[in-house]
Amino acid sequence: MSKREKPPTYWLDFLAWQADQTRRTRRYLARRAALREGLVIDVACGAGQVLEELVSTRPKLRVVGLDADLSILGAANSDLPRVAGRAEALPFPAGRATAVIFHLALMWVRPAEALVETKRVLRRGGHLILAAEPDYAGMLSHPEPGSKQLMAERLARGIQRAGGDPFIGKRLPALVERTGLEILEYGLASRPWHYGPDDLNELERVFTFRLELNPRSARDWWVKARQAAKRGSYMEFLPVFYLLAVKR
Ligand SMILES: C[S@@+](CC[C@H](N)C(=O)[O-])C[C@H]1O[C@@H](n2cnc3c(N)ncnc32)[C@H](O)[C@@H]1O
Repeated sequence: MSKREKPPTYWLDFLAWQADQTRRTRRYLARRAALREGLVIDVACGAGQVLEELVSTRPKLRVVGLDADLSILGAANSDLPRVAGRAEALPFPAGRATAVIFHLALMWVRPAEALVETKRVLRRGGHLILAAEPDYAGMLSHPEPGSKQLMAERLARGIQRAGGDPFIGKRLPALVERTGLEILEYGLASRPWHYGPDDLNELERVFTFRLELNPRSARDWWVKARQAAKRGSYMEFLPVFYLLAVKR
């Protein structure tokens, strides 16, 4: 997608759908980090769903979303503060933030640089919240829809071609340890998805996103996964990890 084009509706829908999947984990992490007031930065915020939800439940927070893509910042519906910028060079002074959040975002940036920047902008006692980052190496599908290559491998290749790291979820502790932030908790934010005959719309939403990453294998996948769901059940499990750390 070019930086100037308006993002397609399916992409905004897909981001909203992804954010729905991890809502419980994000609420848990916000409680665990005792977020009440202060500045919270959502890095690579996309259309800003994560922030909108956060301020709706915690109105005393000052929040700002940052993204490298001006078109996605412009597509957001709400009037929450947003700035254009890069995760690797955060445009904020040192020691200001109460929390810095990444949601399905560290996988798309240069993670080591982004985490050094995060540590710089956090105040002492401030939290790094990695709310959701996947590991496609651990993905399971049943029945397996790929005939020649596992679906997970095809998706991982598509993410790599688009500039992302599909395996980052498993590397989170090592990446964060290197920054000197103290890890408080590392865990799994996802559970298996079961699609039956009533879930074809939801399955189609996943399809539209995969179509963008890898059109040929997405069509293959769609035909087989849809058949299985119509017959009774198509199951997928993608391990998506969270990590909470603090700056001492
Ligand atoms: C999958 S979206 C996730 C958006 C949002 N966090 C969410 O969960 O809905 C990834 C976002 O990362 C942004 N992005 C990619 N590289 C970036 C960078 N180096 N710095 C800041 N944002 C970046 C993209 O523009 C895109 O909006």
